[in-house]
Amino acid sequence: MYQIIDGKAISEQVKSEIAAEVSQMLAAGKRAPHLAVIIVGHDGGSETYVAHKVKSCEQVGFKSTKITFDDNVTEAELLTKIEELNKDTELDGFIVQLPLPKHISEQKVIEAIDYRKDVDGFHPVNVGRLSIGLPCYVSATPSGIIELLKRYEIPTAGKKCVVIGRSNIVGKPIASLMMQKGYPGDATVTVCHSRTQNLKEICLEADIIIAALGQPEFLTGDMVKNGAAVIDVGTTRVTSDKTKSGFRLSGDVNFDEVAPKCSFITPVPGGVGPMTIVSLLKNTLLAAKKEIY
Ligand code: GUN
Repeated sequence: MYQIIDGKAISEQVKSEIAAEVSQMLAAGKRAPHLAVIIVGHDGGSETYVAHKVKSCEQVGFKSTKITFDDNVTEAELLTKIEELNKDTELDGFIVQLPLPKHISEQKVIEAIDYRKDVDGFHPVNVGRLSIGLPCYVSATPSGIIELLKRYEIPTAGKKCVVIGRSNIVGKPIASLMMQKGYPGDATVTVCHSRTQNLKEICLEADIIIAALGQPEFLTGDMVKNGAAVIDVGTTRVTSDKTKSGFRLSGDVNFDEVAPKCSFITPVPGGVGPMTIVSLLKNTLLAAKKEIY
């Protein structure tokens, strides 16, 4: 029988741990951790994500500041604001919600953020530090996956871990983390992508599969060996006649086929998703404690 990895429950647990730590900081006369979020334009998805982030800050006792710019803000104006936030000693960390309008270079914006305040973990200094195993801000999704593996005590040492997908924000960093020394790591990692041959055979050897390619129900039952742990990072909105909205979230895993073969599996929704905001909160707490410098 497989065990469901309950990301919703774990995220609530981590949030209460963070809230307890904030209470201790306040009791010791320190100020609350402070996160700022910059949002440009009115992308529906981004507005929802940012509202969630602000609400989660409230839940754990963080101060948060939302900074809104119109779609037509210039790159220079945005960079000026980032400079200001870099220097603000009352601000621990900040993020610029992506995607940005086409006339603004996302890479330039990311690199303008002081890496010590880059709680998204997107700055090349943080990405580089991650890959050589130094203290850094780990980006939200990989950090959430690691937390789930830890909390469910899923064995990783010497295990074969297959990552499907090679994105900069999930595939590459989670592959780095899974191969690092220590727990949860010490795995033998294979990264697969759209050009991989014999994908099914590779997956069939895996003790742990992390599906992060963004193709609904890509991983099917015939690709998974008995007893594997499966982490589903997919969140694609697909049409559905079973929900009021007419949409539902689909993972990269065909849950009904794959689950019966698994030792552990994350559902969608309620698996990796709820953990991502928690990761941002954890990074902001690290920033407030000046643990990354
Ligand atoms: N857009 C979608 N996910 C993210 C995220 O984790 N951080 C930022 N800044 N933008 C996003």
